[in-house]
This record gives sequence, structure tokens and C-alpha cells, in this order.
Amino acid sequence: MSYLAKKMILECFCCAARKEEPNISAHNSSREYPWEIYTLKEILHATNNFHNDNKIGEGGFGSVYWGRTSTGIEIAVKRLKAMSAKAEMEFAVEVEILGRVRHKNLLGLRGFYAGGDERLIVYDYMPNHSLIAHLHGQLAVDCLLDWHRRMNIAIGSAEGIAYLHHEANPHIIHRDIKASNVLLDTEFQAKVADFGFAKLIPEGVTHMTTRVKGTLGYLAPEYAMWGKVSESCDVYSFGILLLEIISAKKPLEKLPGGVRRDIVQWVTPYVQKGAFDHIADPRLKGRYDRAQLETAIMIAMRCTDSNPENRPSMMKVVEWLNGGLEGTKGVSDVEDMVDEDEEQNYNGMEYEDDTDYDGYNGTEKFRERRTWQHRK
Ligand SMILES: Nc1ncnc2c1ncn2[C@@H]1O[C@H](COP(=O)(O)OP(=O)(O)O)[C@@H](O)[C@H]1O
Ligand SMILES: [Mg+2]
Repeated sequence: MSYLAKKMILECFCCAARKEEPNISAHNSSREYPWEIYTLKEILHATNNFHNDNKIGEGGFGSVYWGRTSTGIEIAVKRLKAMSAKAEMEFAVEVEILGRVRHKNLLGLRGFYAGGDERLIVYDYMPNHSLIAHLHGQLAVDCLLDWHRRMNIAIGSAEGIAYLHHEANPHIIHRDIKASNVLLDTEFQAKVADFGFAKLIPEGVTHMTTRVKGTLGYLAPEYAMWGKVSESCDVYSFGILLLEIISAKKPLEKLPGGVRRDIVQWVTPYVQKGAFDHIADPRLKGRYDRAQLETAIMIAMRCTDSNPENRPSMMKVVEWLNGGLEGTKGVSDVEDMVDEDEEQNYNGMEYEDDTDYDGYNGTEKFRERRTWQHRK
């Protein structure tokens, strides 16, 4: 285990021990105290020894299992699949960060276990799974998310991210905002999850250069190309997510001939023509508020501006989504401008492929990109 990972885990343990109170009730859903110390035995019992039937999810980190504790509480347990310095770091980062945050739209951490070769993170169980299952999976067929729920999920996710950017101390950049990392509780409230790639931003730092992590289709151009990470990378990913929620289109599509088209390239011609109804998920069969649809799309276009400086803050996005869904003033009045420098900037740039994906040609992705700006 790396020194840093050890240190983080140790600090988390200390913090857990310090905060421990005798009257923790696992039945109290509005627990003030965020931690519970689990034994391996307890987790093994809850998940039926990580039985395959209990598996509810799979990610880069490992598998996620459903379980029920001896006190009857439903939990989700993430189990690190293989011990490596990278996996260990992801574990430490996730526990460290989730231990710091508490917000209605962030997945709650119940506890963790680190011993021997096992690294386990215990969360509140989210019975309505991840948003991806509702947009593209079987759940999209069985129980279609209506417009109202979709907008609630968009606002909730935005509020969770805004909390990370503006309220958490130090500020946190998530770096992997996407549909599979937005979970849904019993009431279909959004819970942003999966903090394995998150970064704490020291006071006064506006951006940093890092290795690129995240998911193809959601990566902001300046981050994908140059590893420049700032809050606005999450804003970009949120914009992609918002378009995905509205249209149920995947962030990247492979066209016949193998060319990849991202969701912004797909949506742009419709926005230019004002053909917003073509963007909405056809399964909604027109059951949405037309003005809200237009507002939400225009917010997404602002968020996915290729220039990070033109993107709004998440605080602004929350404000627009909340207020803007009443009226479209301020966000709908945009014009299409081609950024003259853009081709020059992106063409020929070398993309350091250090993401989870191979063979990504970032230049191709952004060649057609437009810049959206407010009309003065
Ligand atoms: N608390 C939870 N409740 C229900 N399902 C969950 C929970 N946590 C994770 N999952 C499922 O497991 C998947 C992977 O979890 P995630 O935290 O994103 O792990 P990874 O870091 O491996 O991507 C999610 O997309 C979701 O389907
Ligand atoms: Mg994930």
C-alpha cells in the first residue's frame, strides 16, 4: 500500500473513531453521524459472502453487492477487485472524500473496511439503481422516466455537484460525472456517486494539470487534451449528462463507417434550427413542457461550450435550472459562433492517452465544435 493511501485510510479511521457516538441508530435515516465501523464478518454476512446473486453493479473499481445488515438495513458494498497501487488510491480517495461530504444529492457513505487484501466501501443502498439503466437499459422500457422526474434528477445532480464545487472545503472536482454515477433513491432523487477519481482543490488554486481520468464522451476538451482540470470540467460533463437525460441518446455514437459522433455534434444542428422537439426522447411522446425543454437544452449548450471560460458555474446552472424552468430569460438567447482559433488550437495537439480508453482521437472529436455565447 502506498504511503499516501495508508495515510488517508489512517486519517479516515481516526476521524471515524473521533466522531463515534454511542447512540448511532442504523434505523435513523437522518443520521447526523455519517460513519459506522463494519467488521468483515458483518459485511460477509450481509452480502451472503459476496454471492453472485447479490451483485448489483460493476465498475472500474470492482463489483458492487447488495446486502442487508443484521439490523435489517439495506446496504451496497463496493469491493475492490484487485490490489494495486492505483486501486488502493481510488479506494482511499473515495473514502476520504465521501467522509467529508454530506448533501441530499450525494451518495451517503455508511462505512468501510480495510484489512488484509479486502477493501470494502459500504453505502446507503439506492433501490432505483443508476440513471444509466433508466436511460439506456431495460428499465427505460419497463418504467420510463417522465419529464418531471428527469428534470428533478437534473436539478438534484446539479445541486450535488454545486455543493462539491462551492460548499465543500476544500473544494472537490468529481472528474467522472456520468449517467452510471448518478444513483436514484426510492423517490427518484439523484445521488451523485463514485468519488474514486475526485480531486480536492487547495484554496486559491483555479486549475491544475493532471493525468486524464474519466469517461470518453463526457470529457471536457481542455481536460482530454492537456489534462487541465478545474470545476468547469465537471460543468462540461454535466452538460453532456443533461443532454443525455433530455434525449436518452448516448454521449458517443458510432455511425456507420466507424466514425464517432458526440451528443453535442448531434444536437447542434437541431438547436440552430430551433427544432427542440427533435432532441427530446421520442419515448416521451411529446409529454414535456416545451419551454422547459428549450431552457434545459440551452443550459446544456452553455455547459458544453468548448471554451471553459464561457461555461457557467454549477451554482449558476442550479439557479438557471430552478428559475429557468419557469422562464427562459438569460439562457435561451444565444447565438452560434464559430471559434476562429479553435481548429488551430485543437488540430495537431497530441492527446496523452492515459484515460481508461484507448485509441481516442480528441482532435477529431472537437473539430466540428461550435462555441456558444450570450448575445450581448
Ligand atoms: N449505493 C448503491 N446502490 C445501488 N447501486 C449501486 C450503489 N453503488 C453502486 N451501485 C451500482 O454499481 C455501479 C458501479 O458503482 P460505482 O460506485 O460507480 O463504481 P465504479 O467505481 O466501479 O464505477 C453503479 O453504476 C450502480 O449501478
Ligand atoms: Mg462508476
